[in-house]
Amino acid sequence: MPDVIAYGADWNPEQWPEETWAEDVALMRGAGVNRVSVGIFSWSLLEPVEGVFEFGWFDRVLDLLAANGIRANLATPTAAPPPWFGDAYPEALPVDADGRRLQHGSRQGFCPSSPIYREKALRITEQVAARYRDHPALAMWHVHNEYGCHNARCYCDTSAAAFRAWLRSHYPSLDALNDAWGTAFWSQHYSAWAQILPPRATPSFTNPGQQLDYRRFSSDALVELYVAERDLLKGLTPDVPATTNLMAGAHWDMDCWAFAAETDVVSTDHYLLGARAEPHVDLAFAADYARSLNGGRPWLLMEHSTSAVNWQPRNLAKAPGELRRNSLAHLARGADGIMFFQWRASRAGAEKWHSAMLPHAGVDTKIWREVVALGAELAGLAGVAGSTVTADVAVLLDHSSVWAQDHPAQPTSELDPVEEAKRWHAALWRAGITCDVAHPEGDLTGYRLVLVPQLYLVSDAGAANLTEFVRRGGVALVGPYSGIVDEHDRVRLGGYPGAWRDLLGVSVEEFFPLAGPIRLASGATAGVWSEAARSTGAKVLDTYATGEPAWTRNEWGGGAAHYLTTRLDAAALAEVLATVCAEAGVEPVARTAPGVEVVRRSHADGRSFLFAINHTAQDAVVTLPGGATVAVPAGDARIVPIGRIH
Ligand code: GAL
Ligand code: ZN
Repeated sequence: MPDVIAYGADWNPEQWPEETWAEDVALMRGAGVNRVSVGIFSWSLLEPVEGVFEFGWFDRVLDLLAANGIRANLATPTAAPPPWFGDAYPEALPVDADGRRLQHGSRQGFCPSSPIYREKALRITEQVAARYRDHPALAMWHVHNEYGCHNARCYCDTSAAAFRAWLRSHYPSLDALNDAWGTAFWSQHYSAWAQILPPRATPSFTNPGQQLDYRRFSSDALVELYVAERDLLKGLTPDVPATTNLMAGAHWDMDCWAFAAETDVVSTDHYLLGARAEPHVDLAFAADYARSLNGGRPWLLMEHSTSAVNWQPRNLAKAPGELRRNSLAHLARGADGIMFFQWRASRAGAEKWHSAMLPHAGVDTKIWREVVALGAELAGLAGVAGSTVTADVAVLLDHSSVWAQDHPAQPTSELDPVEEAKRWHAALWRAGITCDVAHPEGDLTGYRLVLVPQLYLVSDAGAANLTEFVRRGGVALVGPYSGIVDEHDRVRLGGYPGAWRDLLGVSVEEFFPLAGPIRLASGATAGVWSEAARSTGAKVLDTYATGEPAWTRNEWGGGAAHYLTTRLDAAALAEVLATVCAEAGVEPVARTAPGVEVVRRSHADGRSFLFAINHTAQDAVVTLPGGATVAVPAGDARIVPIGRIH
């Protein structure tokens, strides 16, 4: 069990003269930094010429850390192949859907299916691992960096061949593939495997099954690269944990569930989006997702920012106190490590306008003072490490469904499955109810309530999983445009939603996307979407003006399944969620004012911590179960040990 909260950042000492390093490490110690990620973008300096390795400078970096008691997430530098790589092997550079080959000079300039890339990546990985396997600074392997952030899908001939190999291993025959993709449509029938291409630029819509399988293949190709590096590392250091930093909740090209299954501990990066009305609520979604990916166990926030980033149209600096609130929110939701990109703000390069722990202006700054204060606070919270968050509610979300719905030929372009999941999650956030994100085929037995905001695609196993959850006494709430297609994006016939028609006691014959808001019989406001549905057994709880069902409830086995045929506005959605929470016996962890985040982490022995984070400009009071109150001033946060929960 860890006894500290890891605190630190990516450290890129190669961007600075060596004289700076001692100062860096002294400042780190002053700030309570106990962990840094190193070597992430060091390939071109560790192997400046192909096959020629220069580790002297990196030895000194790691020795300096060890001498100062700072541990390293030691990276394999494979996210950024050096210029010599693209020069010598242009065929290993990625190609976009329009057939343009991308050049070196940025990062992630490689085709994920390139055998040459894999060979060179494994060679530098082997060099790093063999040299530092016993180094005292080594805490964890940080494999690559954000797989697929820039090169998730490659359309080159090598990728095309790899795609065909992937298809051959997933379909028993070409006939089976033709059937799954529905290639009788638009004369797309394949008479030889060799005819199959990635979904490159085409005159009109590409085949939905083809694009879905290409997304699956592309994600698998990245997981395979991770596994290849991980296996090599674990072969040399079986006891050193391996991870790769995901972008959970932010970037949907990579199947996070598949990556998570291959890591010793889930780590993820999170950046606030300035364009969002409540970026801290988005943060909570990402953190809950990361925790869920790690099976509820503590996870690691590998990167976030002390203030502005450099890649949004308008990069908002953080207000005083926001850095602390953000960090504590991740901690509250189960992180055992709070790390930043990056330690010292770059002087040059494309990220010179990205904030860091140590800003350009130095230590006499708001950021530095907050960084030092947070380090001290986290040191005082060491007792939180190892505790977990238990949620009674799960939101179902799956990459395949998101990818399938990404195909542009849909009944409306205004339904966004990720936004919808976040909106439902946000409604629970406001109610003080913590919620997991679960895979549709995952274990649902621990939950009282399962929410299905918009799961357009669900496999037969996923469909049965929810049905079984309800049969055993659970409560489900299914949103519109869920359970519509099978795993190949083929419509489930006989009335929508084919996956759960019986469970819901409802059958839908036609979709009616809406041009504007409408009012339901209850007075609730809805919009974007409606369905012509009829009850085949469900009780109708709300209707459209036509009298057709908008909200239904069906008793099934020991439980009940609710269905919404429209997209409710925030207020109406909150009311429906309050109803289903009450029905399922789901309670908030504490009661408080809007905008105050409350979450509980508990140890197995019952010792708990209530986190109360006030994101508003008003002082607030939090009432604990049992009646005790805690004052949380505007913009402030309190972490209260609450003893055993009975
Ligand atoms: C992440 C990446 C870091 C840095 C950061 C900037 O996506 O892993 O290397 O680029 O974004 O926000
Ligand atoms: Zn390729």
